[in-house]
Amino acid sequence: MADQIRVLIVDDIPETRDHLAKLLGFETDVDVVGAAASGREAIEMAVRLTPDVVLMDINMPDMDGIAATEHLAAEVPSTAVVMMSVQGEADYLRRSMLAGAREFLVKPFSSDELTSSIRQVYTREREKQSRIAVQPAAGGAGGGGGSKPSVVERGAEEPGRIVAVFGPKGGVGRTTLAVNLAVAAATELGQRTCLVDASFQFGDVGVLLNLNPKNKSVADLIPELEAGEPESLETFIINHSAGIRVLLAPPSPEMAELITPSGTKRMLEALRATHDLVVVDCMSSFNDTTLAILDMADIVLTMLSLEITSIKNIRLFLEVAEQLGYGADKVRLVLNRADSSLGIRVADVEHSIGRRVDHTIVSDGRSVVYALNRGVPFFLSNREAQVSQDVLRLAQAVAGARQTEAGEPAKKSSQKKSLFAWR
Ligand SMILES: Nc1ncnc2c1ncn2[C@@H]1O[C@H](COP(=O)(O)OP(=O)(O)OP(=O)(O)O)[C@@H](O)[C@H]1O
Ligand SMILES: [Mg+2]
Repeated sequence: MADQIRVLIVDDIPETRDHLAKLLGFETDVDVVGAAASGREAIEMAVRLTPDVVLMDINMPDMDGIAATEHLAAEVPSTAVVMMSVQGEADYLRRSMLAGAREFLVKPFSSDELTSSIRQVYTREREKQSRIAVQPAAGGAGGGGGSKPSVVERGAEEPGRIVAVFGPKGGVGRTTLAVNLAVAAATELGQRTCLVDASFQFGDVGVLLNLNPKNKSVADLIPELEAGEPESLETFIINHSAGIRVLLAPPSPEMAELITPSGTKRMLEALRATHDLVVVDCMSSFNDTTLAILDMADIVLTMLSLEITSIKNIRLFLEVAEQLGYGADKVRLVLNRADSSLGIRVADVEHSIGRRVDHTIVSDGRSVVYALNRGVPFFLSNREAQVSQDVLRLAQAVAGARQTEAGEPAKKSSQKKSLFAWR
């Protein structure tokens, strides 16, 4: 049948090969074209049979699955590899992805996981092939340095704005703001908005939006972009019922290792080309990847709370930001839970950091936590609440203030106004 997915099974244990073949035998859209007992045999069979998908065991005696995958990537590039491994092998996962595997299944996996992985990689590969066929000489093959990834571009329109939601201290409400800001911009301001969970190790966006962690994540997208392959972003982005598009953080912390600063930049470029607004929920740690995001951002919403540690860290961050050349237009201070009476007043904060707070958001534990526990953004479930009004005002501010007259995103050099306006 023309539309069957042709699968080659590779595993050194005969019982596993038989078991997998039996499981797949129940699927009408899958055709098991062969079974190999070693890496070498896998390559020989793949060259001969050109399967759509190779199910590859990682541990095999003569040539392991990673080496075999590397060979396949060179010799049968149209074949997508799904790697199979036992639990606790984070390094294998990283190496598999680098070798060119498209998916990683941890044994034991269910028959549903197996078939959905096969279908997903097959669909993605087909999309990729059809895109290559449509745009033959788009920049040439092989990763051409800093060239843009081949995604659906927004034509002559100006690039979308990147808003990073950052805070040098954890727990200040970044994820809460990022999610609701994105929803407000999409539903009230009609912005095509993508929310990116760049809290790569412990992302919470999926929890706030009640999303299945098995969805594709940045850990799937970034290696593809790094490899310079044209890829439809649609495979990785979730269209959420709240009106926004979402790119999740990896499902487990060790997968954050797959994410590089250069890959992150490519991802943001690609997203900016296809959205009006890209809201990025950042980590609080100030590493190279975070720095790459902050550098690219048009606006850095820097969150603080009325706590002495938060204020101290903000002061330090503002000094770094000034050294980096980020201007006062780029770094906007957002004071969360601004009305909490905790012994520190807003005026005290402003005095301490020598700069005015740009935006405030009230404390509303009832709306915020209720929404969190239901997995529905409060901006939707409690639209009239003051906290939602504050978020909307902030969304209007970031959606309104953007490009320079030339249509270029505001550059560092044009923002030399000091961060420390009060000094
Ligand atoms: N305006 C608010 N009013 C009341 N509670 C809030 C408000 N904003 C955030 N919270 C609560 O504060 C807690 C921390 O929020 P959130 O997870 O968004 O912070 P974060 O900076 O993303 O934290 P992390 O460092 O874990 O990523 C959550 O319990 C959240 O419900
Ligand atoms: Mg968070």
